[in-house]
Amino acid sequence: MDKLIERYRTVRARSEALCAPLEVEDYCIQAMESVSPPKWHLAHVTWFFEMFILVPYAKHYCMLREEYAHLFNSYYETAGTFFPRPQRGMLSRPTVEEVYHYRRHVDAALLDLLASPPAQHAADIWQRLRLGLEHEIQHQELLLMDTCYNFSINPLHPAYHKIELPPAAPAVTMGWQEFPAGIIEIGHDGDAFAYDNERPRHKVYVQDFRLATRLVSNAEYLAFIEDGSYDRVDLWLSDAWRTLQEQNWQAPLYWFKQDRDWMHFDLTGAHALRLEEPVAHLSYYEADAYARWAGKRLPTEAEWEHAASTQTIAGNFLNNGLYVPQPAQQTGMSQMFGDLWEWTQSAYLPYPGFKPLPGTLGEYNGKFMSEQMVLRGGCCITAQDHMRATYRNFFRAADRWMFSGLRLAEDI
Ligand SMILES: [Fe+2]
Repeated sequence: MDKLIERYRTVRARSEALCAPLEVEDYCIQAMESVSPPKWHLAHVTWFFEMFILVPYAKHYCMLREEYAHLFNSYYETAGTFFPRPQRGMLSRPTVEEVYHYRRHVDAALLDLLASPPAQHAADIWQRLRLGLEHEIQHQELLLMDTCYNFSINPLHPAYHKIELPPAAPAVTMGWQEFPAGIIEIGHDGDAFAYDNERPRHKVYVQDFRLATRLVSNAEYLAFIEDGSYDRVDLWLSDAWRTLQEQNWQAPLYWFKQDRDWMHFDLTGAHALRLEEPVAHLSYYEADAYARWAGKRLPTEAEWEHAASTQTIAGNFLNNGLYVPQPAQQTGMSQMFGDLWEWTQSAYLPYPGFKPLPGTLGEYNGKFMSEQMVLRGGCCITAQDHMRATYRNFFRAADRWMFSGLRLAEDI
């Protein structure tokens, strides 16, 4: 348990370290409905510990302000009311300083409780602590994703992460790895931590298939654009084509033209498009259209997990400190973990026998199982120790502010 307490301190400190490059004005911005201001993320993850551990189990706990339960509840209907998500950026109060004070208040009470948890609730407390930590780590990635979007709409192109990237070596040639047909197993088993949506482990039949050994690069995606693909209706799903017209998409999110040159915005600021890097910030629609144009398809999540299950969980994660996906350098299956989340063609649905967590925490994942697609493998702003081969991320088909890319698949 000491290890878990230590992890609590580390995770909490990391959220604040990730905010160190922010100016106080940056904490309050919400540039579109889907993103949240950094200040809200810092407070919401704190509310999670307060709501699910301190309120039920710390006998003499006193809330700093009861209204925070309304302000910082995200979407838990059975935990009370919540402030409308699209308006999170309209709140100048509590101030950033007050939010940090709120964090200190909850940290002190929680560490106090963890020092001597009531015996009859100890198992529940540790379990919820573990979930709360994974939840905060998840929000650390959201905080960076959202900051990238918030900064992207600013014509000054502010850089969140001021670093000189290493000179880009060319990506290795894309190869293919074959996998034979058969009954495979996917999903999480055992006592180690996993979200409820990764369980239970179950059998799936896969046909013979091949996976590309690396992600699709910017250079390859540029060839798709230059082939006029954003104007070719035959390449796009119906919803995709409508979205393309409505949003006037001509390229992935964060690509823009300066004179006649393609530029790209990321957490390091704006720069000439780096052709060797994996293409990022694609919607499902774009990943699907690219695959169709290439005469291939996207992998299913079962195929992806089957291939990933024999791989070591290592790669270009948050811990690398780059916050930018890197060109593939290894031959053989590479970039399965880290760099970019990989779109799959699988809808985000319950596994056979899925049971959400009991009570309010059952709202964490299960209620989002409609109209979303699964992405796998983590990205360059995901913490490495947050990742598992069974991890299921999910977004709507038109979303593209997360760090998403694509790997091709084909039937044999
Ligand atoms: Fe959350």
